[in-house]
Amino acid sequence: LRSIEPAIRLEGELRVPGDKSISHRALLVGALGEGPYAIRGLSPAADVASSARAVASLGVRLSNDSESLLEGWPQRGEGRDSQILVESPGWGAWNVPGEELDVGNSGTTIRLLLGCLAPSSVRATLTGDESIKRRPMRRVVDRLRRMGARIEGEDGGDRAPLTVTGADLTGADHELDVASAQIKSALLLAGLRAGGSTSVREPSRSRDHTERLLRYLGVHIDESKDRLIVKATDIRNRDLQVPGDLSSAAFLLVGAAILPGSDVSVPGVGINPTRAGILEILRRYGASVDVTDEHEVCGEPVGTVRVRAGDRRALEVSGALVVEAIDELPLVAVLGAFADGGTTVVRDAAELRVKESNRVRTVADGLRAAGVEAETSPDGFAVRGVGGMPGGVVSSAGDHRIAMAFAVAGLGSRDGVTVEGWDAVGVSYPGFGEDLDRLAVR
Ligand code: S3P
Repeated sequence: LRSIEPAIRLEGELRVPGDKSISHRALLVGALGEGPYAIRGLSPAADVASSARAVASLGVRLSNDSESLLEGWPQRGEGRDSQILVESPGWGAWNVPGEELDVGNSGTTIRLLLGCLAPSSVRATLTGDESIKRRPMRRVVDRLRRMGARIEGEDGGDRAPLTVTGADLTGADHELDVASAQIKSALLLAGLRAGGSTSVREPSRSRDHTERLLRYLGVHIDESKDRLIVKATDIRNRDLQVPGDLSSAAFLLVGAAILPGSDVSVPGVGINPTRAGILEILRRYGASVDVTDEHEVCGEPVGTVRVRAGDRRALEVSGALVVEAIDELPLVAVLGAFADGGTTVVRDAAELRVKESNRVRTVADGLRAAGVEAETSPDGFAVRGVGGMPGGVVSSAGDHRIAMAFAVAGLGSRDGVTVEGWDAVGVSYPGFGEDLDRLAVR
């Protein structure tokens, strides 16, 4: 439980923890490769610890100046530049894990691991928390099976726990019906160990962190007519640096956009265009968004993002922008509630229903609990903008992004917001509450 008192504005500069998506890949792709490497700026998120534990049980050694990295993680939210050393025996020499691999709440861990394990020589059972056990896995499992994968589990392999028995795979051509980086990545990673070539086409481009990292590590990915094509390739590890997480920064930036007079800067944050939809959304809202100090880090674009409050206009978010801001859509609901008039509508976002919670429902429930009118549709929601919200008690429903979105709403609310199930924030952003307090002027 955490109570968020109203604030006058947000002000200041703050670095956010490492990108969660890229951190997962730094660990999982590195586990496929051979040779020691260092990761700087790895995310302290509980989800990333799940990936770390998984690769550790496959025989990858993780160390941080001889101190066991996994102890005390993710509480150690501070060292945003801390470095860990990774020694992977390489894909062919993985251990058979002694027990089930528990991925906790992490969809990225379980889906990418399926792609890594399917062509390996080990057998492993993957499980997770109640949320993970509800999330659809056939989207990955069926496509891997087409390549020869042996995966069994609940509901014909749609639900965890899932048992993978490594097998020889043959490449296949995949057409995705939803834009999903998790599905795409699982297939590309499996393709790195499959005979022939493996290709993936998505209806619109999801985040391309896997492609960028693989290319950085020397893997050739052909691209023709929106199709990504890989062939079997050995990966040689290289030192990696993880940029700040724009999806974490987004909570602070949206706080700045809804509170008049705010001015927040986040240096060193990822601005990958396949992920940066929230910046476009903030511009359309009427905030002033500046990106400076643009540069590349290990193949990923990085910059300093500064947001100053401006107009607060109702939004319509649909199509490709939904994919580019998929994890920020709960924040779009918050922007919408604080808009000075108009109705904010999100559509084409049925994927929200199969995230850590059913976010169409949990966003609408949260808004109503905070005194705001909201409607749901099969593929999104609508929020009336009244320039503020009364506040109240909101349940996180165990979903980190719901907890943080309503904490931000609390800053602009009349009476404050109390978030039940606050612990969930550790899934992606341990220390978020403290960071918010650092910027809040009260
Ligand atoms: C992620 C991809 C997205 C996103 C998730 C992280 C990733 O999921 O919502 O939080 O790291 O690849 P989908 O690929 O299912 O859309």
